[in-house]
Amino acid sequence: MDGNGRWAKKRLMPRGYGHQAGMNAMIKLAEYAKMCGVKYLTVYALSTENLSRPADELEGLFNLFRKYFTKNVKKLYARGSAVKIIGDLSVLPQDVAQVVSDGEKNSPADADFTLVFAINYGSRAEILRAVNIAVDGGKKLDGNAFEALLYTGGIPDPDLIIRTGGEIRLSNFLMYQAAYAELYFTETLFPDFDEKEFDKALNNYSGRERRFGKI
Ligand code: IPE
Ligand code: MG
Repeated sequence: MDGNGRWAKKRLMPRGYGHQAGMNAMIKLAEYAKMCGVKYLTVYALSTENLSRPADELEGLFNLFRKYFTKNVKKLYARGSAVKIIGDLSVLPQDVAQVVSDGEKNSPADADFTLVFAINYGSRAEILRAVNIAVDGGKKLDGNAFEALLYTGGIPDPDLIIRTGGEIRLSNFLMYQAAYAELYFTETLFPDFDEKEFDKALNNYSGRERRFGKI
């Protein structure tokens, strides 16, 4: 979800205004993705690297979680959707970590849509954590057993990864899981990434030929 800051700057507004707009766009997008038949939508809300942003910007982001997270999770539950968190909550402010982890606790087991929320998430940290759990376990693992140790254990690999905001890189997002994902990059800044933009991405995806290394 890249481009919130630039979106705000274009409007001569502080970056936090862009994050607020980005959050609104994300909520709409989750509803629309569900309507389109998407089963899992993973949003990269905060990377491990984002945690070194200036304190006032981080505080603004945390305030968004404090204010809106629970409310929106309840809305998702009311529609039979589930919420799952991936990332390391332990270094977030205690109350924010609480709000976020509470958010996944009462998810329905039989949800037809799951919003996966990546917060203080980074693939390198995720893989390292899994390796250390495996080492502590003391025996060699096969692929399935290793994947179960990732934050995404139980969640299927992504079919499509969308990055908004014009950069053409993954920035430590689902690096293991994205092995065969289709990638879609758009200049559109995240707060402007609406239903129409999502349709464009899905149409583009539907024209891809996925061979998974075969012929
Ligand atoms: C992405 O928007 C949102 C978060 C990382 C929380 P940015 O904050 O990276 O926006 P730009 O890239 O500065 O426009
Ligand atoms: Mg950015």
